[in-house]
Amino acid sequence: MTKPAHGGNLAWAATVAGCPVSAVLDFSASINPLGPPDSAIQAIQTNISRLRAYPDPSYQELKKALSLTHPPLTSEWVLPGNGAAELLTWAALDLSKLETIYLLTPAFSDYKRALKTFTANVVECPLTIGGSKLTQLQELHVEAQTNKGLLLNNPHNPTGMLMDLETIVPYLEQFSLVVVDEAFMDFLPLPQPQSLVPLVTKFSNLVILRSLTKFYSLPGLRLGYAISHPERLRKWQKWRDPWPVNSLAIAAAQAVLEDQVFQQQTWNWLADTRPQLFQDLAELPGLQPYPGAANFLLVHSQKSVDWLQTTLLKQHRILIRDCSSFPELGDRYFRVAVRTQEDNQKLVDALGQIFN
Ligand SMILES: Cc1ncc(COP(=O)(O)O)c(C=O)c1O
Repeated sequence: MTKPAHGGNLAWAATVAGCPVSAVLDFSASINPLGPPDSAIQAIQTNISRLRAYPDPSYQELKKALSLTHPPLTSEWVLPGNGAAELLTWAALDLSKLETIYLLTPAFSDYKRALKTFTANVVECPLTIGGSKLTQLQELHVEAQTNKGLLLNNPHNPTGMLMDLETIVPYLEQFSLVVVDEAFMDFLPLPQPQSLVPLVTKFSNLVILRSLTKFYSLPGLRLGYAISHPERLRKWQKWRDPWPVNSLAIAAAQAVLEDQVFQQQTWNWLADTRPQLFQDLAELPGLQPYPGAANFLLVHSQKSVDWLQTTLLKQHRILIRDCSSFPELGDRYFRVAVRTQEDNQKLVDALGQIFN
């Protein structure tokens, strides 16, 4: 079995570890360990009979529920999709019509998939990891002209870096189209001051992508949404198939968006566990974690990460995300999701045995 480029490929990991899939402790996919919330499961069970009908292709109810989480936006500013990944495809189609697309790297691999599909002309802008991280981005500022697009991710995967609003706003004035993937923004407690959502009514060249799969732990259900000018979203709706979001995803989304208890639990859990995991990793010789704003940490390793990943799987049935699939990072970086205190301790103990 070939090594997967994405995190979370448990079938591959189980083969390497020589154990059932259920026995692998997965730190590679950055999914909230507290979920899915009971509210989601209950909504799916209660609405199972909705499977007999097609979902409403205009997604009125779902759009309303999503827009209510971003006051004062109304439904027409939101478009639900089959995960942020589906909406990324349509954003990439809009981007590909521009002369050049600037892509902040290392980048989530699906950006390249989407941009390649429409043969976009991509210029990569590498982040300087660990140093003055935004140097490259500020240079961009000078180069940018009209008919150019920018694709960013905030908080950034895999570094966990969080850009301030003040850093991004100048690009909105310079680029013809700016797409900001905020798939991990929900892990920041409200009011999420770094989110660009409040600026969307001012900038018609802004697209924001959000995901419900990470925070609510529903990657198998597929649910994300785009926030942008209604005209752009109506155009995307015409391009795509009529029912990208299924009836059970609609029901679950409506339930979780109102689940303030789960939201607060998640913010509390992350506020406790992330600093602890960071500190424990920093204390291990040969490892250097980077401070991250989301529910994962990027870690530099003095040992080969390909070797480390295999060793952790074979000896401890623990799966980390080997970052060598991000070409800029090479074989010395890995990413781990923040999990429960107990799971994090297992990871730290296993790494301790290897590094001490
Ligand atoms: C940065 C980023 N954006 C978007 C996605 C995809 O999200 P969704 O499951 O909503 O398609 C991922 C998934 O790993 C991601 O890492």
